Amino acid sequence: MSDDLFNLHIGYVCFKNPIALAPMAGIVDSAFANHYAGDAGLVVLGAFNIDEGSISVASQLAARGRKEFISDEPMELIKKEIRAVTSGSAVAVNVRSTTLDPLIELAKLVRDEGAILELNAHCRQPEMLEAGLGEALLRDLPRLSKWIRAIKETGVVLSVKVRANIVDDAELARVIDKAGADIIHVDAMLEGFGPDMDAILTYRDATRLFLIGNNSVTDFIAAKEMFSRGADMVSVARGAMDDPELIRKLVESVNSYQEIIGWYNAPKHVCSDGDFRALAFCCMPVKPCPVHEKFKKLGYTAEEFARTKMEFARGTLLEFGEDTCFGSLVWCCKITKPCWIRDGALNALDLSDSEYMRLKEQLAKYILDHARIPVNESR
Ligand SMILES: Cc1cc2nc3c(=O)[nH]c(=O)nc-3n(C[C@H](O)[C@H](O)[C@H](O)COP(=O)(O)O)c2cc1C
Ligand code: SF4
Ligand code: SF4
Repeated sequence: MSDDLFNLHIGYVCFKNPIALAPMAGIVDSAFANHYAGDAGLVVLGAFNIDEGSISVASQLAARGRKEFISDEPMELIKKEIRAVTSGSAVAVNVRSTTLDPLIELAKLVRDEGAILELNAHCRQPEMLEAGLGEALLRDLPRLSKWIRAIKETGVVLSVKVRANIVDDAELARVIDKAGADIIHVDAMLEGFGPDMDAILTYRDATRLFLIGNNSVTDFIAAKEMFSRGADMVSVARGAMDDPELIRKLVESVNSYQEIIGWYNAPKHVCSDGDFRALAFCCMPVKPCPVHEKFKKLGYTAEEFARTKMEFARGTLLEFGEDTCFGSLVWCCKITKPCWIRDGALNALDLSDSEYMRLKEQLAKYILDHARIPVNESR
């Protein structure tokens, strides 16, 4: 197997696969990560409380019996914890703070350790919200934006952990994107309904940032649901506790899926609610269908859209396939949609399914790169 099957890099961080362990306060430390998530591409430790305000709130919660990581020397503890992850997974630390200065100090430390800082905009216990922690940041977008900008000045790779369906998700994604964060880690919970796959799609079509999807992933079918809505990675929290083998199994499945399919998080077709990347699978825009509305949101006319796809195809094997519906593989469907005409063309070209899909992935990037309206400004 290739050492870099997925080609997942952000700044100084490289992920060996798109499966992550999500944070759980008082539970996910280095020992837990080494034991339950040795195979994961990313482990997110914490949450850690790093200033007086957050330590005080966590202490109140701990007194009520909730598990929390509390230390008088949070910076030292975090440094020790990052270094104690022995699995070769990338490491992130999920943190709470009522003030900015400790976040800046920690960002420098985390950067120097080659890890990721994850700003917790997710926890929702009433005491946290009252102190302005966790989810309170979602309701104060100017502060969230200001903090992201300031933290990013340190050069740290920054993730923001959010909860979906609290505020306008598309607007939130754009604010985080424009402030300069690198990753959005979204708990796609819809209160009373479980995981909300549409929320993942909403984030995907509002930003091109690296997206980690989270909530109720307990098998590869659930992970694939999130991938096909545009998650670049999926994370698991409770599932890892319930099944210590879960992360290993997810990694094994996604590795073989990527080897066979070539684009592990390929979108659904546009007419099945696919995200913008699915324009790579769309037909020539000659008849009325949802493709028109989709490319219009990126500022393309039908002619420009067709020209952009053909421009990309020129000089690649997607140019060929004259017996297909529109005379070129550039207009052809996703490999998982059965089609003997396309498969015949692929055979004649000696182009494997995964090579075909990797070209489609490059095509999707090309379409987004050449859009007149960038994804984070489309409405
Ligand atoms: C006991 C427990 C503690 C958690 N603590 C944190 C935390 O400190 N920071 C955070 O961002 N999310 C925390 N979460 C949320 C998880 O990271 C995750 O978003 C949520 O559990 C949904 O994912 P799951 O269905 O895989 O468990 C916690 C979840 C649990 C169950
Ligand atoms: S162009 Fe084809 S794939 Fe795209 S939305 Fe229309 S019918 Fe679906
Ligand atoms: S030839 Fe097959 S894969 Fe290509 S556009 Fe037509 S139906 Fe889709």
